[in-house]
Amino acid sequence: MTTISPLIAGNWKMNGLSQSLDELTELAQLLTTGEAPRAVVVVCPPATLVAAVATQGASSGILAGGQDCHVNASGAHTGDISAYMLADAGAQFAIVGHSERRADHGETDDQVRAKAEAAIGAGLKPIICVGETEAQRDAGQAESIVAAQLVSSIPDAAGLHEVIVAYEPVWAIGTGRTPSNDDIAQMHASIRARLVDRFGADKGNTIRILYGGSLKPVNAREILAIDNVNGGLVGGASLLAKDFYTIISAV
Ligand code: 13P
Repeated sequence: MTTISPLIAGNWKMNGLSQSLDELTELAQLLTTGEAPRAVVVVCPPATLVAAVATQGASSGILAGGQDCHVNASGAHTGDISAYMLADAGAQFAIVGHSERRADHGETDDQVRAKAEAAIGAGLKPIICVGETEAQRDAGQAESIVAAQLVSSIPDAAGLHEVIVAYEPVWAIGTGRTPSNDDIAQMHASIRARLVDRFGADKGNTIRILYGGSLKPVNAREILAIDNVNGGLVGGASLLAKDFYTIISAV
């Protein structure tokens, strides 16, 4: 339905020591010796490995991303990392508003929007995460919750810059459960309609909408073939080169 080039991003979360770069080496080998990938490939390691992933991934086309960024460029914010620092380390993307950060750090839509703006300001492409909890889905509120998150988490600057939306139902993350294909199709169509509504057809139809939540080698082919699913945000299965490569190849 769309001609958007797909993107598969791996979110390593708080996993990965320097030896995990062996997986990156293996992934690079698979990507360069196998059939050319039909997707943009991004790896978002912990901040400690962003520079290494950016450097090591370059020759095989693997791009690096951060998992979060502060709203400010610099300052007295112990332990935080700014979008400029990620860019300086070679990142081209930054995940913002992941449900684990919304839950663990109480991040609000307003903060997520400010982070997305900061990422854009630093020249990064924000991957803005939205998604409902299981209770919200059971209450029939999934679409309205996600719609509200889209309104408040996506900055107006998305009209002029590249942003990526990731739909990650909270209850599907790390659980091995996924929505039905129909439910994914319905949610992605709803997100698409809202993007077109807000940013116009020309822009709204070019924004990638990724699916995330227990995306695995076994289900990648069918999920990635759903209309308006323009790629995936992969957690656990991105930690093993073979699994991640299988998902990339499913595009
Ligand atoms: P899993 O693929 O492990 O379910 O994680 C999804 C996710 O949260 C990616 O950001």
